[in-house]
Amino acid sequence: MTAIVLLGPPGAGKGTVAEVLVEKGYTHISTGELLREQIRLGTPLGLKAKNLLDLGKFVSDEIVVGMMQGVLKTASAGQKFLFDGFPRTLLQAEKLDELMESLEGKLSDVILLECPEELIVERLSGRRTCAKCGAVYHTTYHPASVDNICDVDGCELQLRPDDAVETIQRRLAIYAERTAPLVGFYQEQGLVYTVDAARSIEEVRNEVLERLGQKLP
Ligand code: AP5
Repeated sequence: MTAIVLLGPPGAGKGTVAEVLVEKGYTHISTGELLREQIRLGTPLGLKAKNLLDLGKFVSDEIVVGMMQGVLKTASAGQKFLFDGFPRTLLQAEKLDELMESLEGKLSDVILLECPEELIVERLSGRRTCAKCGAVYHTTYHPASVDNICDVDGCELQLRPDDAVETIQRRLAIYAERTAPLVGFYQEQGLVYTVDAARSIEEVRNEVLERLGQKLP
């Protein structure tokens, strides 16, 4: 089993890059999406997580690591994982190393998407998502074919509660304090490849595909 990590601030485009890697056979694991699913299902974990997500605050390391242990328990030998939004703290990164070692897996790349703050605010405030299937759009950069309706399943698109401008600012501050130190952690392991994510969706996706040795679309 191998894995890559997509690292970068909220709104840098991790989920958008992940979409093309899924087409290349990667198993996409977004901890944000897993948590939102628990919220949709109304599970005890979802009820605990909802307020934190809405406010842009992190869920505890214990919960997230437990969730990832569950996911990786079922991994098969040749599976290629793509982690999006995990790890997000140094403790999570250390736990991921332990997990990979225990499963004889290998973390092969950490793709760091860099994006200036003003662009992030524009991207997140224009983002619209389908609450049913999770498809992601942008009012300007990636509009749905019919205004506000998901191309995949025809459901109405929504603004994520944590994409309110003041919550975006909080998420960015938490990223700087708790997640940015992971860049140094992974640089020491020689795993970081930095991508300028301020470019078009196609340019960013193509650079990541090339880096991972995948054919361009
Ligand atoms: P999560 O869902 O992981 O949110 P995030 O990291 O804040 O990232 P986003 O999904 O907001 O952005 P993205 O980088 O994927 O951008 P996207 O591709 O959508 O986590 C949510 C919450 O869950 C956290 O705040 C926390 O509470 C909790 N959580 C999750 N994991 C956790 C963990 N490990 N530990 C603790 N708590 C955890 O793109 C954004 C928009 O821009 C879209 O509209 C897209 O169409 C557009 N766009 C993308 N790329 C481009 C481009 N190149 N040009 C123009 N537009 C673009």
